[in-house]
Amino acid sequence: MVCVSGEPGKGKTTFVEDFLAEPIVNGQSCAVARGRCSERLAGTEAYSPFLEALGNLLRSNAGPSLERTIKLLAPSWYIQIVPIPLEDSLDVRGPDVKAGSQERMKRELAAFLQEVSRFRPLVLFFDDLQWVDESTIDLLAYLADFVAWATILRASTLDQPGQSEEAITDIRESLATLRAIGSELARPLFLAIMAKEYAKAGRTTDGLSVLNEALEIVNRTEERYCEAEVYRLKGELLVRQGLFHDAETCFHKAIGVAREQGSKSFELRAVTSLARLRQTQAKREEAREMLAEIYNWFTEGLNTADLKEARALLDQLATSF
Ligand SMILES: Nc1ncnc2c1ncn2[C@@H]1O[C@H](COP(=O)(O)OP(=O)(O)O)[C@@H](O)[C@H]1O
Ligand SMILES: [Mg+2]
Repeated sequence: MVCVSGEPGKGKTTFVEDFLAEPIVNGQSCAVARGRCSERLAGTEAYSPFLEALGNLLRSNAGPSLERTIKLLAPSWYIQIVPIPLEDSLDVRGPDVKAGSQERMKRELAAFLQEVSRFRPLVLFFDDLQWVDESTIDLLAYLADFVAWATILRASTLDQPGQSEEAITDIRESLATLRAIGSELARPLFLAIMAKEYAKAGRTTDGLSVLNEALEIVNRTEERYCEAEVYRLKGELLVRQGLFHDAETCFHKAIGVAREQGSKSFELRAVTSLARLRQTQAKREEAREMLAEIYNWFTEGLNTADLKEARALLDQLATSF
């Protein structure tokens, strides 16, 4: 999301229109939808710039191909944009659509934008944002949140060698967006994802620094569901630094938190990490016992990555003396 600000008459509109004359993103030309905030409405009409932008989009060359998608995914928007002939109106305006709450409108629009931008990037340009209505601001924040979350989750799936720097950049930008709109939800999880990418890229110190930030947020906000994983990752990075005693403390902390929360998957990961450390300390029997105990708790999902990894380690611990 880009915001162009400056005094009246400075050339903001001209500047943006200049860019939009040939909008290319990643070598692909974009569709453009323009909406204006109006001084006359001065913030009273909910979503007016979005409604105008979607209306313009439907009337553009791309319109006919988008009509079906918007009808399907964003019906509450569609009925406000396209005047409906009286005889059809009962069909389209079902009770659901009438009741379209703001939450629903937001969800619908996000789904529609996600779908259309799969085929071609779409630029939404809102001019004269100083007259924006509160619903539009709320919707913009929602979309920023939505895009940032989607970007982080996509980045976390990039696992080809050499892709971690790309993932790190994407996650960092998304975290900055979330911070800018004041959204802190799931931040510890996202920082943990970031730490994993740093680990893959061999950037141990950077990884530790984001994990410490995650722990600070966990303790301040009580958003604890990934606390065990944060401690475990911290332990893994400390192992790399040769700080085995501190690493062990982190693994024990991770195991303790996971047990307290009844989170068996995180317990398995933390015990696997500790067992791997024990293996290097020539304490194989202890490692095997603790890992076998948690591994045997699981009766299904044995083909998932974490359980396969635990199984492989158990086999090593059983055979190598
Ligand atoms: N780079 C520029 N050089 C000369 N004139 C400009 C330039 N950019 C904009 N203008 C002129 O300045 C006026 C105000 O520009 P506009 O883009 O409408 O400003 P804003 O949107 O910031 O209020 C317009 O008449 C425009 O043609
Ligand atoms: Mg202007």
